[in-house]
Amino acid sequence: MCGIVAYIGHREAYPVVLKGLKRLEYRGYDSTGVALLNGGSLKVYKKKGKVAELEDFVLGKDLKSHISIGHTRWATHGEPNDRNAHPQLSGDGKLAMVHNGIIENYAQLKQELLNKGHQFTSDTDTEVLIHFIQEIKSSNQCSTEEAVRIALKRVVGAYVILIVDEDDPDTLIAARKGSPLVIGVGKGEHFLASDASPIVEYTKEVVYVNDYEIAIVKADELILKNISNEIQTPYIQKLDMELAAIEKGGYAHFMLKEIFEQPQTIFDSLRGRLDAKGGKLTLGGLREHMDLLKEANRIIIVACGTSWHAGLVAEYMIEELCRIPVEVEYASEFRYRNPVVGKGDVIIAVSQSGETADTLVAMESAKEKGAIILGVCNVVGSSIARLSNGGVYTHAGPEIGVASTKAFTAQLAVLSLIGLKIAQEKGTITAQRFQHLLDELESVSEKVATALQLNAQIKKIAEKYKDARDFLYLGRGYNFPIALEGALKLKEISYIHAEGYPAAEMKHGPIALVDEQLPVVFVATKDSYYEKIVSNIQEIKARKGKVLAVTTEGDQVIPAMADDVIVVPEADELVAPIISVIPLQLLAYHIGVLKGYDVDKPRNLAKSVTVE
Ligand code: F6R
Repeated sequence: MCGIVAYIGHREAYPVVLKGLKRLEYRGYDSTGVALLNGGSLKVYKKKGKVAELEDFVLGKDLKSHISIGHTRWATHGEPNDRNAHPQLSGDGKLAMVHNGIIENYAQLKQELLNKGHQFTSDTDTEVLIHFIQEIKSSNQCSTEEAVRIALKRVVGAYVILIVDEDDPDTLIAARKGSPLVIGVGKGEHFLASDASPIVEYTKEVVYVNDYEIAIVKADELILKNISNEIQTPYIQKLDMELAAIEKGGYAHFMLKEIFEQPQTIFDSLRGRLDAKGGKLTLGGLREHMDLLKEANRIIIVACGTSWHAGLVAEYMIEELCRIPVEVEYASEFRYRNPVVGKGDVIIAVSQSGETADTLVAMESAKEKGAIILGVCNVVGSSIARLSNGGVYTHAGPEIGVASTKAFTAQLAVLSLIGLKIAQEKGTITAQRFQHLLDELESVSEKVATALQLNAQIKKIAEKYKDARDFLYLGRGYNFPIALEGALKLKEISYIHAEGYPAAEMKHGPIALVDEQLPVVFVATKDSYYEKIVSNIQEIKARKGKVLAVTTEGDQVIPAMADDVIVVPEADELVAPIISVIPLQLLAYHIGVLKGYDVDKPRNLAKSVTVE
C-alpha cells in the first residue's frame, strides 16, 4: 500500500526520490507524485498510473532541488486520478504533504475548514489534513512543526506524513502513528521512506521513528520530538539488508527469485536456533515468556491472508505437540467481535510485513485486555514486532513479490520451532520424537531444494491447465491449510477463481462443481490422513474431475489414479507443508506468467495492507 520517500542533502533530490519510488512499487499503488523545493520555489508533479508515467510527464521540466518528497498512492479516499494523487497542497500553496494511512475524522475536520472558507481540489483526507495544519499555522502564527504537533493531537487514525514548506526550504517535517517510517542517516544527508528498500544503497544507519514522534530533518541534523514537544534521542540501528536482496538478480520476476530462495531462507530462519546434532533448540525471544506459554489457557493466533494459513498449520502442530488449545483468528474479525480474551491467553501475531493494520489493531485490543503478545514477523523493527512482548523473527529477507512465498515457509519453520520448544519445556513430547522432529527440520531446506527441481515439469502442467475457469484445492490435516494457500496463490497471480477446502468437506457442497472441466489439486503427501484422501480422490475421479496430485516419493497408488502427479520428497507430516507448498507456488507463478500478467504486482493488491 502507499509508499513514501524523501531526500534532503547535497545530491540532486529528484533522482534519489524517483529511484526510491521504483523500489516501493512492490507495495502496490495506482498513482504517484513528487514535490521539489528549490530555494523558495515549490514544484509538484503527480500522475495517475505507474512511476514510469510520472517519469515521462516530468521530462523537460525544472527538477532542480536538494529536498524532495515522493509518494505512491493506493486509493482509499477518492478514485485514482491526478487530482487525488499526492503530494497535496495547503490552501496557500506553501506546504506540500504526502501521507500514508487514513485520517478517520477527516469529514469532521473538513466541515470545520469549509466553514472557515477553505476550498478543496481533491477528494482526499490528505488534503484536509494539510489544510488543517496550515489553518493552525496561520491562526496561531506558529512554525510548521508546532502546527503539525497541534494538528496531530486532533487527528484520529493511522498516518505517516512528510511535509515540505516553501518558507523553510532547508527542513523536512515527518511524523508517524501506526504507519512505518524509516530514516536513513548519511553524511550531510537524510533519506526517509516507508521501508528500508529505498535507503539501503546509500546508508546502513537507520532510525525507526516511533508512534507519536515528529522528526525535524535537515541535511546535517535530525531532531526527534514526541507529541508533547520533548526531545527524543534517535536510536541509530545497523540495517541488516543487502542491496542484492531487493534486486531481481537475473530472475524474470521477484516472485520466482523468492520461490527459489527458499532453501536458503528456511535455513536462515532456523540458523542459530536449531541444533539437531546437539539435540537443542534455542529461542531467545521466548525465553522470558516460556512459563506463561507452558501454563497458557489458550494460544490465539491472529493473522491475515497467507500468514493466517501459516497460523492454521501451527494450530494443528501446537495442539498435537503441546496439548494447549489453539484458535486461529482472522485479525479483522477478532478485533471487532469483542472476543473473550484476557490473562492466561497468549496471542501470537503472525505477519510478514509487520505493518498489517488489521493484525496491529487486533493485537492492541488483546493487549488492553491483559493478554501477552508474541510476534512472528519478517520485517525487523516493524510496528507488529515493536508492539509484541516478545517473539521470533522469521529472517526470510525482504519479500518484494506481492504474493507471499518465502515468508510463508519461514513462518512455518519458525512456528514449528515454537511448538517444539513449548512441548519440550512442558514435557508433552518424548525425547525421541523431539529429536526426530529436529532432524526433520534440519533436512527440510534440502528437500525444498529437491522440490524446486520440479520447476520445468510444473511449467508444462501449467500450460495444460492455464485456461481453466475454476480450480479446487483439497487437503487434509496439515495439508488442509496448504490447499487454502495454493488456492490463494492462484487467485492472486492468475485471477482464476480457486477455492481451497478440507478434502472431506468437499462432499458437503463443493462436489457439485466437479465435472470434466474442473481441475482439482490434491495435496496428498504420505501422512496419517493418506488412506482417507485416496478415497476423496476416487470420489472426484468417479465424477470425471481432472486430478492433479502432489504426492510423496514411492507412492504408487495415487499416481495410478491422478491425471497429473507432482512427486515431492517424504517428510514427517508436521514438516511436510513446508515442502508441499512449493509446487503450488510454482504452479500459480507459471499460470500467471503464461496468462501474461504482472505476477509481481497483481492488480488491486498491495504488499503491506496498512488500512483496516
Ligand atoms: C498473500 C499475501 C497476503 C498477506 C496478508 C498479510 O500472498 O501476501 O495475503 O499474507 O496481507 O500480510 P502480512 O503477513 O504482511 O501481515
